[in-house]
Amino acid sequence: MKNNLTVILGAQWGDEGKGKLVDILSEDFDYVARATGGANAGHTVYVNINGETKKFIFHLMPSGVLHEKPICVIGNGVVLHVPTFFKEIENLNSQGIDVKNRVKVSDRISLLFEYHKLIDGYQEDSKGQKKVGTTLRGIGPCYADKINRRGLRLCDLKNFESFKEKYYANLNWHQKVYGFEYDAISELNEYEKLRPQLLKMMEDTASLLNREIKNGKTVLMEGANAALLDIDHGTYPYVTSSNPTIGGVFTGTGMNPSYLGESIGIAKAYITRVGSGPFPTELNNELGDKIREAGGEYGSTTGRPRRCGWFDSVLTKYSVMLNGFSSINLTKLDVLDDLEEIKIAVSYSLDGKIIDRFPASLEDLERVQVEYETLPGWNESLNDVKFWDDLPENAKNYVLRLEELIDCKIKFVGVGMRRDQLITRE
Ligand code: GDP
Ligand code: IMO
Ligand code: MG
Repeated sequence: MKNNLTVILGAQWGDEGKGKLVDILSEDFDYVARATGGANAGHTVYVNINGETKKFIFHLMPSGVLHEKPICVIGNGVVLHVPTFFKEIENLNSQGIDVKNRVKVSDRISLLFEYHKLIDGYQEDSKGQKKVGTTLRGIGPCYADKINRRGLRLCDLKNFESFKEKYYANLNWHQKVYGFEYDAISELNEYEKLRPQLLKMMEDTASLLNREIKNGKTVLMEGANAALLDIDHGTYPYVTSSNPTIGGVFTGTGMNPSYLGESIGIAKAYITRVGSGPFPTELNNELGDKIREAGGEYGSTTGRPRRCGWFDSVLTKYSVMLNGFSSINLTKLDVLDDLEEIKIAVSYSLDGKIIDRFPASLEDLERVQVEYETLPGWNESLNDVKFWDDLPENAKNYVLRLEELIDCKIKFVGVGMRRDQLITRE
């Protein structure tokens, strides 16, 4: 049914707080799905269970899994590291959350093996100073196998004998290139052990989602990674190896695009980035350190300190254009509570001329001069603010100015990590 698909996507360089909104909204959905990326994603959700605040970090499992209603779907565009996936299931089980019977994994999904991680490391090492700073989760090498038409998919597990043949063909090819020793037997034994459970979860998820939506069911799509990490539209080559922008939602699930209703971009009230690559508004100074500490800006997947900088409206507007967001969730506004003044990047110029586009060339991006606007801070805690009208004037003005600059409605404002710390503007 038209409008029954809602999409949530990262609008900057990742870690904007996608998991939190997915967790909040998914309560009312029939399905919550992932379409792209893999265990490079780290989506954090804080929930109160029996009076105790618990933290969950999801890498492959959709963040809506904590609610009983939605069925979780992992679409064909994801790269699946089976041990990570099972660890997540076990972790949830140990907290009393039984998920096995409400998770469906695409039969066309690409399998990510341990050797993909090794290759990720070799490729990074070979790049020296120019390394991407990947999460070392094997994402690039697994997608490369898929594009090279040599990868393995979940449906290959139906026939374990031919699965082993394909596995060795791929592994041996990589061993010839990189010359590493590898314990294939253990990995295959593990697959044989988990095979019955995996086959039980396996489904033609494209048919399932299209059929269910046609029958009036609703789907919430959880984006991983982010627009500026997109292999086509991001800061190439300092990007991930998939399309975390809107197109990836459809290729990564096989869903009919005409079902799209809302698409919500998640943008931090400042910007962070992990890994290498240009970052025009980066604060490589004490202020950057202060924001990192206030925002707890350490990677959910790798624990790496995140680079911090001012909100960049040029970059975020580019992301709004690429994704056609119907609205934005501005997150972590509370992290700026203690700042006297807050800057916003309003334009870039190159060789003395203002440029109205986000540059493709990294050399250009590294050379841009950033023009800033400075707004006064609000110097009070936003953590307990529940309604838009109760925000301090300066905080409202900051949000309204961002809205104007990026040309997209800011519908949600995050003022803390808990579910109830979200202001919804009508
Ligand atoms: P994701 O990858 O986009 O899901 O984001 P991460 O989980 O990697 O990082 C976002 C972090 O910010 C998490 O620790 C969230 O709990 C936290 N967070 C999300 N929204 C807010 C907010 O509005 N305020 C604060 N202080 N923290 C938030
Ligand atoms: P979530 O979903 C932040 C970054 C890595 C590296 C580049 C390539 O939590 O927002 P990869 O391992 O994908 O080959 O690394 O992309 N990166 C992310 N940064 N959040 C993410 O996911 C990311 N996923 C990948 O740090 O710079
Ligand atoms: Mg994250």
